[in-house]
Amino acid sequence: MTTMQSATAWRIGILLGLLGGPLARADERDELLAKADASVREAARRVEDDPSRPVFHVVPPAQWTNDPNGPLFFDGAYHLFYQHNPYGDRWGHMHWGHVRSQDLAHWEHLPIALWPSKAKGEEHVFSGCAVIDRNGKPMLFYTSIGDRLPEQWAAVPEDDGLIKWKKHPANPILTEALHGGVKIHEWRDPFSFHEQGRTYMVLGGNLNGSKGGEAVVTVYRAEDDGLTRWAYLGVLFRHPDAGVKNIECPNFFRIGEKWVLIVSQGMPVQYFVGSLDPEAMRFRAERRGVLDGGDVYAPNGMEDPKGRRLLWGWVNGYQGGRGWQHCLTLPRVLSLGPDGLLVQEPAPELQSLRGEHRVEEAVKLGETPHVLDRVRGNTLEILAEFERGDAESFGLEVLRSADGKRAVSIGLDGKSLEVAGTKAPLELRPDEALRLHVFLDRSVLEVYANGRLCITRVVQHEADDLGVAAFARGGAATLKGLDSWTLGSIWPERRRPGR
Ligand code: FRU
Repeated sequence: MTTMQSATAWRIGILLGLLGGPLARADERDELLAKADASVREAARRVEDDPSRPVFHVVPPAQWTNDPNGPLFFDGAYHLFYQHNPYGDRWGHMHWGHVRSQDLAHWEHLPIALWPSKAKGEEHVFSGCAVIDRNGKPMLFYTSIGDRLPEQWAAVPEDDGLIKWKKHPANPILTEALHGGVKIHEWRDPFSFHEQGRTYMVLGGNLNGSKGGEAVVTVYRAEDDGLTRWAYLGVLFRHPDAGVKNIECPNFFRIGEKWVLIVSQGMPVQYFVGSLDPEAMRFRAERRGVLDGGDVYAPNGMEDPKGRRLLWGWVNGYQGGRGWQHCLTLPRVLSLGPDGLLVQEPAPELQSLRGEHRVEEAVKLGETPHVLDRVRGNTLEILAEFERGDAESFGLEVLRSADGKRAVSIGLDGKSLEVAGTKAPLELRPDEALRLHVFLDRSVLEVYANGRLCITRVVQHEADDLGVAAFARGGAATLKGLDSWTLGSIWPERRRPGR
């Protein structure tokens, strides 16, 4: 189509859209999505050889991403969406990008799923969730941003592959009118759950214009099977810290007898474990913790057919765009530990990405770092166990230069774990070994320690800095054993393990 023709079609589209014609809406969608996908494809050519792009973390083909959105399992496949700017490597023009996987390890990029419907006044399609309705049909809910108050909108698929979506005719589905005059500021990021046969939704925001002390999660109940009519049930949770100004992207779900609420109130993201009064729909927090001590924000999760609670986060530590910016964490499986706190483990399906395997025997660590000559690379999985001895600190160095002058350190000092300069509390019980599960993916370092702490960092390295060493400082420690694997790509076109 020539520019003139497309400009004319565009104007006609807007006109018909304003008149509300169904044909106009489909046309606008197809045209806007074709333009957005073409923009990403064009940018993808420029970034595919960037050696810092992760290969086994979900990242768009190019351009900007932030929050993971609406994960769901449907018709034999995992679907994951993400906040996406197809037009640049900075935040803006929010759409929903889309990836799909049969096995939770290998993924394929699909066309952009959701777009701002300009003809209906939308500027951004913000974060949200997926719900399977009573007829087994998926529905996406998201916050619609335009030149008006935020509204919660829905979209439904046109095919079983969930490739093409259309905006729900009943939009807006939830508006602030539901709150009966109570103003909820920054009202956004729907997340849905089921309880006692009913479907509920939580949303984040605050009650006092982000002045602090009134950050809340509000709760709603679906009143019809089509999930188009909702009742406001009040405040599910008010953040206990006076300094917290707002809550984004709440996730609320059950694990066993307990309920878990994850809130993005700033970094690090926090979670609360407690109980739910289902009559009053009020959550009582009993324990709290930090989800990831590093560069992770706005996580989003789902329950899968195996009954597992899966979670992805937004890895947001990249400095400046380079035709792409940011990626998602690995899929994590959540459970509750004996202390009632969250346990996070990388999904076991990731083992299918493993290539070359190396095993290191036990070694006593002292004065100088012990270089593991056979373990090298920047796409690695490492499982290592340490006995702490009397060392002041001990752990691993990755991305180490041959002379040891440059390295990224993962070390425990007795009270906290430090990963690439970021610390989070981790105290071992007497006689407890340090168990590190490390995923190094070029510029992303995702570290799981003893199931109860995650720190994800964005790191940089020189091309030849690919060494790995174990160290103890200020005393002795023992590396009890180490397994490492090169990991392959999650994308079909690059399945080879290694660099
Ligand atoms: C969190 C967030 C959400 C919002 C989205 C917009 O990172 O600010 O609250 O829906 O990002 O991209």
